[in-house]
Amino acid sequence: MPLVDMKDMLHHAYDNGYAVGAFDLVSLDFLEGITSAAERCRAPVILSLAESHFDYFDFELIMPAVEAAAQRATVPMAIHLDHGASMDSAVSAINLGCNGVMVDASHEPIPDNIRCTCAVVDMAHACGVPVEGELGYVPGVEGEDAERHPGEIAYTTAADARNYVEQTGVDFLAVSIGTVHGRMKGAPKLDLQRLKQINEALGIPLVIHGGTGLSDDQFRHLIASGVAKINYYTALSDAAAKQINENTRADASNGFTGLVKDIRTVVAAEAERCMRLWGSAGRAAEVLSHCHPWMPVEHLIIYNVKGIDETRVETIMAEGRRVLPAIPGVRGVFTGEAMQDDAKYRYTWLVRFCHPAVIDSYREHPDHVTFADKLFRPVAGERISIDYQIVDPVIQGSSYVGH
Ligand code: 13P
Repeated sequence: MPLVDMKDMLHHAYDNGYAVGAFDLVSLDFLEGITSAAERCRAPVILSLAESHFDYFDFELIMPAVEAAAQRATVPMAIHLDHGASMDSAVSAINLGCNGVMVDASHEPIPDNIRCTCAVVDMAHACGVPVEGELGYVPGVEGEDAERHPGEIAYTTAADARNYVEQTGVDFLAVSIGTVHGRMKGAPKLDLQRLKQINEALGIPLVIHGGTGLSDDQFRHLIASGVAKINYYTALSDAAAKQINENTRADASNGFTGLVKDIRTVVAAEAERCMRLWGSAGRAAEVLSHCHPWMPVEHLIIYNVKGIDETRVETIMAEGRRVLPAIPGVRGVFTGEAMQDDAKYRYTWLVRFCHPAVIDSYREHPDHVTFADKLFRPVAGERISIDYQIVDPVIQGSSYVGH
């Protein structure tokens, strides 16, 4: 069950002078490559999914696989939404299993960035989920993200950063000090003095986007100045693409499986190189003992109804199944009827929360209040309601320890 609280994970990195890799994955090959690299070098890792890549895979379909990979791992992992574009994306990421979200309104003027980020922080913190904000602008004019990020680099200042963090309450800050997303023309020049000032002003884990193309020395300097999370994608993508080209050259008649052969191996090799360079390799055991495990809660209600027939009960359940899953932090809603005729309680609700914080925020959420007060409570006076912390979810395949 090595899904762990991402805030604990990044504070451990920040306090101990290393950085955790947040590797954007775009397929199961990437997922397996990244997780096997982490297993091999005993590193904590962040499985990152960028909203800008959602055209290339179905986020809703890939998330169960990402969560299963994290749950069966033996090294600590977190699942993160990278470059979330809206409140809706942040809510659906949390409800699908992300335990960290980024809200990226860095292209907006600062007051708008603050307003948008505050709203996401309020929602996510009520679900126990930490938030990464971005201030300043990290463009992607040359890499795969180019279309989404036109424009010039806007560097983060220490004064703006302090104000932004105070006003928004973000847990981690992505800063702009000279990196860009994707490939760069020429050698990147970083403003390390600026990074140092930001770190002294904030004292929270800092994040670097656009990790591809930086030198070993640059990474060491970034980490020495408070960078605890490094976002990395293009180099993995290039390694995978190169492998496909080699597979084509080796045998022009290759079918699909022949073309994608060994992608996991090359993605794993590059991810492992980064984990060793950034100092996360070998940290798994101490991170596991330091971090709160990420554990869901089952909100269970068993009840009887008075004064309504079966059809009305089903109508109420259907309304609950429609409305309640959209509440932030709700992972799933199940309704049921007893199979035994003599059951003491005829009906059940089982609502899965991502985190204990959701017990309160769900209860107070306006959609829950309306549903409960108008439809459910008036007819279900006889009921038992208990929240169970799920200690160590066992899923099929959880004994797997990587390739
Ligand atoms: P690179 O593609 O430059 O490694 O950057 C990835 C990134 O910052 C994703 O958020």
